[in-house]
Amino acid sequence: MTSPSSSSLKHRVALVTGSSSGIGYETSLMLARNGFITYATMRNLKKSENIKSLTEKEKLPLKVEQLDVTDDRSVKNAIQSITVESSKIDVLVNNAGYALNGAFEDIAMDELKAQYETNLFGVARVTQAVLPFMRKQKSGIIVNISSGVVPMGGFPGGSAYVSTKFAIEGLSKSMKYELEPFGIKVVLVEPGVIGTNFFNAVVVAKKSQDSSSPYSNIMKKMAPRFEEIMKNASSPELVARVVLKAITDENPSLIYLAGKDVEQLKEANRGMSDEEFYRMMKKNFNLDSIESTT
Ligand SMILES: NC(=O)c1ccc[n+]([C@@H]2O[C@H](COP(=O)([O-])OP(=O)(O)OC[C@H]3O[C@@H](n4cnc5c(N)ncnc54)[C@H](OP(=O)(O)O)[C@@H]3O)[C@@H](O)[C@H]2O)c1
Repeated sequence: MTSPSSSSLKHRVALVTGSSSGIGYETSLMLARNGFITYATMRNLKKSENIKSLTEKEKLPLKVEQLDVTDDRSVKNAIQSITVESSKIDVLVNNAGYALNGAFEDIAMDELKAQYETNLFGVARVTQAVLPFMRKQKSGIIVNISSGVVPMGGFPGGSAYVSTKFAIEGLSKSMKYELEPFGIKVVLVEPGVIGTNFFNAVVVAKKSQDSSSPYSNIMKKMAPRFEEIMKNASSPELVARVVLKAITDENPSLIYLAGKDVEQLKEANRGMSDEEFYRMMKKNFNLDSIESTT
């Protein structure tokens, strides 16, 4: 894979979080195959065997580094070791994340905090550690992996996860103004449904697992809907290609969509009022005739 002239990208240094699987794994490989010196970071190094063996086989400029986005020390150590070795970071891809699912009232505070600790504060922690280097360089690009749930607006059971992605969008759009004078670009990637480990890794709020939850009817209705949408999932390579395009575009857009489903959703959203869009989504989720459990 050698889309944008690989030679022009040589010696640019990229850091990707959550590279043990899915989008992060494919993005790390995509960047390395296109000449970026790539630090594929992950919290659990035991999951690095596949990427390491491909790196060796293809002689890629890829290194694996331990980085848990929820751990200050781990983030500090990783950034220090990368900058000592490579003296700069040109690209940061904030990708690590998971979904907490459950009706909002069922979600315990510690479950909600854990979701934010990874999906939002994880992005904040890594970005704040990288920014001083990009600022000194007067260059760099930060790619934050958001989600198609933002143009979707929300879904039942998604309040925790969706709100972290809305927060990432607000964070990114605000930072863009601040960082532009320093030559640093900020980009959001909104993937649609992607076939990765993401759906197996979903954490369901404890109370929502209980059939006595007042929201169990709604949650039950959503389960087959998820199975259905998974059938049309796009590949994580598609998202990796979009990330590569974003970081190699001369003037990157603020938002890149990744997947036909999210493109269609955004198109539908364009022609409708918020109320019309909500009603269409409700029908789509098959929730028109839903009743509360108690
Ligand atoms: N799949 C989709 O349909 C979809 C759609 C839109 C957006 N996204 C977003 O895309 C990103 C990647 O998800 P994916 O689909 O590739 O799912 P995935 O295959 O489950 O990958 C998630 C990655 O995040 C890592 N991670 C979780 N907590 C972490 C932590 N504390 N520190 C460091 N890494 C951590 C995981 O590491 P472990 O292996 O150690 O758990 C894994 O490498 C997420 O931000 C997700 O919200 C996914």
